[in-house]
Amino acid sequence: MLVLNAIRKSYQDANETRLILNDLSLTVAQGTSIAIQGESGSGKSTLLHLLATLDKADSGSIHLSTGQQVLDLLSLSEAQADEFRQCQLGIIFQKFNLIDCITVYENLLLPAQLSQKLDHDYLQLLLRDLGISAHQNKLPNQLSGGEQQRVAIARALAHKPQLVLADEPTGNLDSKNSALVSRLLVDTCKQLNTTLILVTHSQKVADLTEHQYLLLDGKLQCQTQGL
Ligand SMILES: Nc1ncnc2c1ncn2[C@@H]1O[C@H](COP(=O)(O)OP(=O)(O)OP(=O)(O)O)[C@@H](O)[C@H]1O
Ligand SMILES: [Mg+2]
Repeated sequence: MLVLNAIRKSYQDANETRLILNDLSLTVAQGTSIAIQGESGSGKSTLLHLLATLDKADSGSIHLSTGQQVLDLLSLSEAQADEFRQCQLGIIFQKFNLIDCITVYENLLLPAQLSQKLDHDYLQLLLRDLGISAHQNKLPNQLSGGEQQRVAIARALAHKPQLVLADEPTGNLDSKNSALVSRLLVDTCKQLNTTLILVTHSQKVADLTEHQYLLLDGKLQCQTQGL
């Protein structure tokens, strides 16, 4: 279970404080997928950065319950945050952030090895399902933007994390591949009982998730009921 309570986050501009997230609250059951939509600049990436422990909120709390453990994500020490990101979190950024000097397969091996969840058969299945098996021994910069994006998705799932944060994960794909890859992301998370928070501008992609939210005026409005 992921529980965000009364999150506030502001940025300091030259001469004013801009409140981006304003008492935002959200509860997501473990293994559930949700989509977040909202205008450019509404704070979607800001929210994902807080969930990824890459930034701090001004106030509020984020708790992630994982089996026996409850993590207070806004109060982790640096070492605890490193461990959380390494073992429990998969992130797909708006930019891919692949490591360019190692092969595609090594990009997947790295998170799996760091979190001691290496499963070669599973990694090969991921590569096959995402249609990038033939590229696994190439360097990321030898791939097209869409292929790199699919590698970034495979990497985020390589260590079977508890939580996946995806920021426009199919922004670089054509509509056919966007639908295929988004469905694979949603389905794989479901199989792994991984919670998926998916930021997207595409209604078609949002429709694949179980609950949809709109980020407006610093708060999340639920767009779906009764699922
Ligand atoms: N580090 C920062 N310092 C100051 N302002 C920031 C910072 N990061 C983001 N902002 C501002 O906060 C607002 C929200 O940014 P954010 O990147 O979260 O938007 P977004 O909803 O992800 O937009 P998009 O759909 O374009 O990706 C924007 O107005 C942005 O300029
Ligand atoms: Mg963004």
